[in-house]
Amino acid sequence: MTPTQDIRWMRYAIALAKRGRGRTAENPAVGCVIVQKNQVVGVGWTADGGRPHAETEALARAGDRAKGATVYVTLEPCSHYGKTPPCARALTRAQVKRVVVATLDEDRRVSGRGVAMLQQAGILVTIGVCAQEAAETHAGFMRRLRTGLPLVSVKIATSKDEKITTHSAQPWITGVQARNFGHILRREHHAIVTGIGTVLADNPMLNCRLAGLEHTSPVRVIIDRQLRIPLDAAVVRTAMQIPTWIVTSITQQEHPHGALLQKMGVQMMYVHKGDFMEVLQALGAKGITSILVEGGQGITEAALGSGCVQQCYWFEAQHRIGTHAMPAVLHKDGLSHYLQGWQCRETMLWENGDSMRLLCLQESSHT
Ligand SMILES: NC(=O)c1ccc[n+]([C@@H]2O[C@H](COP(=O)([O-])OP(=O)(O)OC[C@H]3O[C@@H](n4cnc5c(N)ncnc54)[C@H](OP(=O)(O)O)[C@@H]3O)[C@@H](O)[C@H]2O)c1
Repeated sequence: MTPTQDIRWMRYAIALAKRGRGRTAENPAVGCVIVQKNQVVGVGWTADGGRPHAETEALARAGDRAKGATVYVTLEPCSHYGKTPPCARALTRAQVKRVVVATLDEDRRVSGRGVAMLQQAGILVTIGVCAQEAAETHAGFMRRLRTGLPLVSVKIATSKDEKITTHSAQPWITGVQARNFGHILRREHHAIVTGIGTVLADNPMLNCRLAGLEHTSPVRVIIDRQLRIPLDAAVVRTAMQIPTWIVTSITQQEHPHGALLQKMGVQMMYVHKGDFMEVLQALGAKGITSILVEGGQGITEAALGSGCVQQCYWFEAQHRIGTHAMPAVLHKDGLSHYLQGWQCRETMLWENGDSMRLLCLQESSHT
């Protein structure tokens, strides 16, 4: 294979890996493509819940055609016996000729060992093809591995004068295309986090409503330290269908509400003070690898002020709402106070009656 062909097949593997994003924790979302004589003979991606692994799926599809083939995999194949046998061993048994790996796994049980196992079996190994693109796909998994915390993205929709409420019967600042993009973001994260203020004001569902992707809704997390959520809130009523966690400082001994919520399918998470960092640590400990913060002013400002946000998706409408509406943050310099020095990765414009700008911002140290 030429380097250009390697890049082409690895990009295909990365696209497959993205299918599992937000759905494979605590395992990484990996993609795998098996190529024999320039023909794809097997593809795979990590299944929901993290198993089977991408390599296992691709090898099963390839069958005997894996013998002598080249395998493209976005993350180093595992080398340890967990709940499944090591993928490096499965590749060896299938007698593949070459394995191209985008990034090494930082999991101490694997790091370098998967590659060594392949090389010991005489398999050619190339490392680092499309490494940057693959690292972005595995960012949440890697961040939790390094810090114990999930990757944090903030999504916010504002008017030109940075207001987040409309005070009209129509609660949305954004148009339908921007909202659909928001649903894609939900689907790509492991959990959505909002505050009790938003639940009380809007009674949102916080699910993914894109046709065909309804089953991919992430875990819904509501930070409600005083346990004010009503039992008839939409997120509570649907907690049996979509995982719903309430983060609170009020124990069941203090308030029987918690037991009623649990009966309705809600999972209670008890924290001490419930500051944003404590919530992040608790979510990381429960295996959450990435969160999308979709809160109102309180939660947005708490998240941005914590210094633990890596990405911000800022939808900005071009109309002004006026001083009567709620600002995105209380700081006198607005959102730019928190986003100073961030890299702006993308800007899109949608003409949909009103034009909408989407700024995808990345915290400078985040790669
Ligand atoms: N345009 C948009 O993108 C957008 C998105 C979502 C919501 N909104 C709008 O925002 C408005 C609600 O704003 P909001 O500020 O009341 O809602 P919020 O940010 O969703 O929730 C605020 C509440 O979260 C709790 N909280 C938990 N941890 C906190 C912390 N570290 N710092 C501050 N608060 C914390 C507080 O209640 P406890 O102390 O009781 O825990 C606080 O009252 C609604 O009108 C909604 O429509 C707009």
